Amino acid sequence: MNKLALFGGTPVRTKPFPSWPRSSKEMKDQLINTIENESWGVGSQVTNKFHAAFAAFHDAKFCITTNSGTTALWVALKAAGVKAGDEVILPAYTFIATASAVLMANAVPVFVDAELETFNMDADQIAAAITERTKVIMPVHIGGNPADMDKILAVARLHDLKVIEDAAQAHGAEWDGKKVGALGLGGIFSFQTSKNMTAGEGGAIISNDEQFNNDCFSYHNCGRVVGGEWYEHQHLGGNFRLSAFATAMLSAQLKTIDSDMNTRDQNRALIDQALNEIPGLTPVKLYPQVTRVANHLYLARYDKAAFGGIAREKFYEAMRAEGVFTYAGYVPLYKEKLFITNPDEYPWLKDRKYREMYMPNTEKLCNEQSIWLKQNYLLGSVADTQDVIDAFVKVTTAMHQNPALFKK
Ligand SMILES: Cc1ncc(COP(=O)(O)O)c(C=O)c1O
Repeated sequence: MNKLALFGGTPVRTKPFPSWPRSSKEMKDQLINTIENESWGVGSQVTNKFHAAFAAFHDAKFCITTNSGTTALWVALKAAGVKAGDEVILPAYTFIATASAVLMANAVPVFVDAELETFNMDADQIAAAITERTKVIMPVHIGGNPADMDKILAVARLHDLKVIEDAAQAHGAEWDGKKVGALGLGGIFSFQTSKNMTAGEGGAIISNDEQFNNDCFSYHNCGRVVGGEWYEHQHLGGNFRLSAFATAMLSAQLKTIDSDMNTRDQNRALIDQALNEIPGLTPVKLYPQVTRVANHLYLARYDKAAFGGIAREKFYEAMRAEGVFTYAGYVPLYKEKLFITNPDEYPWLKDRKYREMYMPNTEKLCNEQSIWLKQNYLLGSVADTQDVIDAFVKVTTAMHQNPALFKK
């Protein structure tokens, strides 16, 4: 075994992994066509066509694009009827926007712990979080791996709650043969730069419910209503529309998303197989109903005890020295200063005891166990993926052989 790069040896990988975002001739053609022949904003045929195509790709009837995933979340929550003081149930293990959109709707984020094995919201804990103020359950498909939608939809039905999926990371993912996003009332996607489909920024809301879609139209378009006048405003909305340049870029990517997903699937399977052979590393688990994953992030868990007590940060350090960037990802959302130090700015949160919260699985994932790889690592060739695997094997073998070396 070569000496670890951390201790002066030769790194496994010195070349970069496939860069992201990635341009293509199709994107450039679509952009030029939009510049020369289209309306750049309202009324653009490129945008209308993208709405229809993205809805169809996601097994939904309707789609509205927005200028970010965050605004898509706010619009979807408002269209779902969330009012000041209502409660929205969401995972504590997610990106801040899932919770901040709730706050932006003057509503209360109610956090639920994650499952260790899947990193997703523990659906069995939702019922205990429901109160008479609960309006919406908002699962997140973390890393592009679908949350347990059977259980989530069942508990929502039982308590007459709406489900809005945060599918920001889950383009193309499937639950039981059906694409995610419109399994409940509706769902949102992000097209921010790091996402599997991107226009630099952007978002979308999909659904099968015409009234919900019309309400989304209103909130994302200055409170205008479908069929109404330009200067007629029935809701407090904003200009959250997406430009035609962005929808042109995204239209081109609908032609490549499937083959990208296949590449990600193959590479994920190779890394999973390798990690399953390494004591102390565990790839994220999928529910049996998941028929396709988006592989936005490669997720796995680190067991410190299996590595003789070596801190996870030392493992990251050794992996990075080998040329493979692993990192921890999220912190528990209820620990964000936003929630614990701003009672004057958000008085309706004053009695919420975010400061005292402790969700054991979320804490374990964030502070001890989670290992993330960015999605561009999954877009490489088999040889690229072999380098990722070789780095995992090289580092963990050395750690198992001589844990003391890593504690200095
Ligand atoms: C789970 C999740 N929800 C919401 C968002 C918000 O999307 P955006 O950055 O496009 O506002 C993101 C992405 O950044 C995300 O990962």
